[in-house]
Amino acid sequence: MKKIAILVGARPNFMKAAPIIRALRAQGARQIKAERPKGKEKNTSHQQFEPVLIHSGQHYDRRMSQVFFTELGLPKPNRHLGVGSGSQAEQTAGVMTALEPVLRELKPALLMVVGDVNSTMAGALTAVKLHIPVAHVEAGLRSFNREMPEEINRVVTDSISDLLFTTEKSAEKNLRAEGVPPGRIHFVGNVMIDTLLALRGKARKISHYRKLGLEPGEYALVTLHRPSNVDAVPELREILRALVEISKSLPVVFPVHPRTRKNLEAFGLWKKSAKGPGLILTEPLGYLQFLSLMDRARMVLTDSGGIQEETTVLGVPCLTMRNETERPVTVEVGTNIMVGPDPGRIVREAGKILRGGGKKGRIPAKWDGKAAIRIAEITRKYLLSSNAQAQMTK
Ligand code: UD1
Repeated sequence: MKKIAILVGARPNFMKAAPIIRALRAQGARQIKAERPKGKEKNTSHQQFEPVLIHSGQHYDRRMSQVFFTELGLPKPNRHLGVGSGSQAEQTAGVMTALEPVLRELKPALLMVVGDVNSTMAGALTAVKLHIPVAHVEAGLRSFNREMPEEINRVVTDSISDLLFTTEKSAEKNLRAEGVPPGRIHFVGNVMIDTLLALRGKARKISHYRKLGLEPGEYALVTLHRPSNVDAVPELREILRALVEISKSLPVVFPVHPRTRKNLEAFGLWKKSAKGPGLILTEPLGYLQFLSLMDRARMVLTDSGGIQEETTVLGVPCLTMRNETERPVTVEVGTNIMVGPDPGRIVREAGKILRGGGKKGRIPAKWDGKAAIRIAEITRKYLLSSNAQAQMTK
């Protein structure tokens, strides 16, 4: 049986990989069943593909990694590279150095990478140099801001991927403009939304807001971790000021990312943040607790990528504290409004939502819970095509 290796590394990768692994396994099981009556299983087993999960270890805290494996039903990784934190170069090089011997040993038919974190780009680079085809899930998104490490990761990964799976139409346009052959691009929808739709019911039962003493629709939810917002004192202080201001009218729940916490403490802002009466700081939350909070929030304020998409599907107004988004469909079709890091604008837009209920949106095309099934099908066809077979025998 041929292997499809899937690389994950950081928190937002886990919810994207989970449905893909399930879809690949289901496809393998269907294939075996379909082939068995004909008695061909011995001859055709080379046409089946089993997923093999590799964790780079970019995120390693229980709350940033293990809890997601449990809640999302992800299998224990077949390999854990234990790379951990470091500078951009250290982390990228660390993943490459640790992954290369693993890929040499496993000899997968293809490496699948998801999202835009450092592990994504490092994985793609390592595989392509070993002549292993690469599939990129969530390809083609562009913020056009090359100061974001994720933008570099996206551009590099897409330029060396053989299969590019996109979540929205803008991605295809971006890829074509960069000269990617159209035959490599597949508009499949959004695997992060596959996970959200599968687990929304379970998350609702948790009602995590009640544990924080809150009522549904009577609080705002915040996430903040972009280096441009949290790595320098003035930006972080100003955003914090806006959050404290909002918390005077509406309780604000803020699960603090480790990067942000480290900086709040280093800049002497941690005690100040804990002072706002309506500002509720928590440790990073698990997937179900966070989804439960997001689903019933009056509004979400974030600088995350994925949360812009999740709020669009949940129909919850989202204020994105960045100047640009690589996910324009969430603004054009969904509930997202870009407010930048300007505290005045953040407070004003939050006030509008409080008074008027916020932007209503629709659900973007193909965000229907079936993206992973499409990915599994296209990947299988690709691997059975003569092109890839040639690569596989190299
Ligand atoms: C990374 C991704 C970002 C993604 C985010 C989600 C890159 C370039 N960035 O950013 O796109 O949105 O993950 O969380 O890949 N830390 C811990 N425990 C952990 C992991 C990190 O304490 O388990 C701390 C460390 O101090 C580390 C810092 O967080 O130095 C930043 O971690 P890192 O993986 O470099 O980037 P993120 O900011 O998490």
